[in-house]
Amino acid sequence: MTPPATKPAANNLEAFFMPFTANRQFKKNPRMLAKAKGVHYWTPEGRKIIDGTAGLWCVNAGHGREEIKAAIAKQLDEMDYAPSFQMGHPKAFELAARHAALLPGDLNHAFYCNSGSEAVDSALKIALAYHRANGQGTRTRFVGRERGYHGVGFGGISVGGMVNNRKWFGAMLPGVDHLPHTHLAKNAFSKGQPEHGVELADALEGIVGLHDASNIAAVIVEPCAGSTGYLPPPKGYLERLRQICDKHGILLIFDEVITGFGRLGASFAAERFGVLPDMITIAKGLTNAAVPMGGVLIKDKIYDAFMDGPDHMIELFHGYTYSGHPLAAAAGLATMDIYAKEGLFERAASLSAYWEDAVHALKGLPHVIDLRNLGIIAGIELESRPGKPTARAFDVFLDCFERGLLIRTTGDIIALSPPLIVDKSHIDQIFGTIGEVLRGLD
Ligand SMILES: Cc1ncc(COP(=O)(O)O)c(C=O)c1O
Repeated sequence: MTPPATKPAANNLEAFFMPFTANRQFKKNPRMLAKAKGVHYWTPEGRKIIDGTAGLWCVNAGHGREEIKAAIAKQLDEMDYAPSFQMGHPKAFELAARHAALLPGDLNHAFYCNSGSEAVDSALKIALAYHRANGQGTRTRFVGRERGYHGVGFGGISVGGMVNNRKWFGAMLPGVDHLPHTHLAKNAFSKGQPEHGVELADALEGIVGLHDASNIAAVIVEPCAGSTGYLPPPKGYLERLRQICDKHGILLIFDEVITGFGRLGASFAAERFGVLPDMITIAKGLTNAAVPMGGVLIKDKIYDAFMDGPDHMIELFHGYTYSGHPLAAAAGLATMDIYAKEGLFERAASLSAYWEDAVHALKGLPHVIDLRNLGIIAGIELESRPGKPTARAFDVFLDCFERGLLIRTTGDIIALSPPLIVDKSHIDQIFGTIGEVLRGLD
């Protein structure tokens, strides 16, 4: 059809069906961002907003990085696109080698896609195909966890555990069980990893008892649950999961879409906790969000299991048109350079004590029922208004934005995760603003 001669009015907001947004509320009172640099956004009217969430947990090196911009522009000049099916281009290989070098243990291979959701679905498919290649094709079940978030693909919502992301979408994948979440009231106001809850990992033994290990392909968890309002793992919990998976030949997948690339003050949560999964899903901080990209980091034993049969045969019947896209690979390499040159993972580690103090200084403010932190993340849980879950936190979100601070809320929890380039004055501003808002809140 020929496009209409008269374009719709520029301020018509109806056409864009916004994701994970209260569309009607937004379109009555739009909150637009038009420019970004460092740890700040600016609205179209020029109001400066401090970014308390690194966009959506993704702009770890801060906004508007010249090095990333230059790398993308150079790549665009040289070659816009090349397929990764039966062809290659150098930067995707270079990026995979850089990721392998960064990772602990023998997580030496990277598969690339375009988002965290695709990374999760790819990891689940690789787990199934790995077992089949190993002659254990009955291992088809997955185990996720309540309150987990693994993106929005059918695989991700099936193993995920956030009810609103699941209840609208039918039966999802069959053959999925969920571990209990790790949020215990007796851990309220824990600093860093909570003391209680290691035994929650033992529920995996119950699931094995029900289905038999020979039917279970993989367990997937976020090492520190993110979208559900930050739930750091209880001490010993991840270690226990690893032990049980090893005992039963079940693959362990860490979804590090948020926790990867420095957020916890180490390259990955796997390094931070000294627990090595069989696969790690990544996205977000991978390219500092300048170009969409996701990936799955894979252990030798899994990759090697596919390298069988005649040489001319395709080993993995899975991939995306944009797997290893040249612009994303260029952005990923420039991002890795920044992380290394500026020591941003170490910077996050060195700021984490100051961050922790700032988080826990909110104790005693009206409506605050829990405070959680780890690395440069925080969850501030508010008591819900009777009969109106989410309303109180949403008011905090709106008020913070009016006062020049971008936060994120999930349920009645405020989630914070600023770029890792924040300094102490930014941290003071973020918590100062939240404190002011909470003091005036009904
Ligand atoms: C742990 C985790 N996994 C997967 C995803 C999905 O990533 P994307 O939105 O890029 O599909 C997210 C996004 O927040 C996430 O936090």
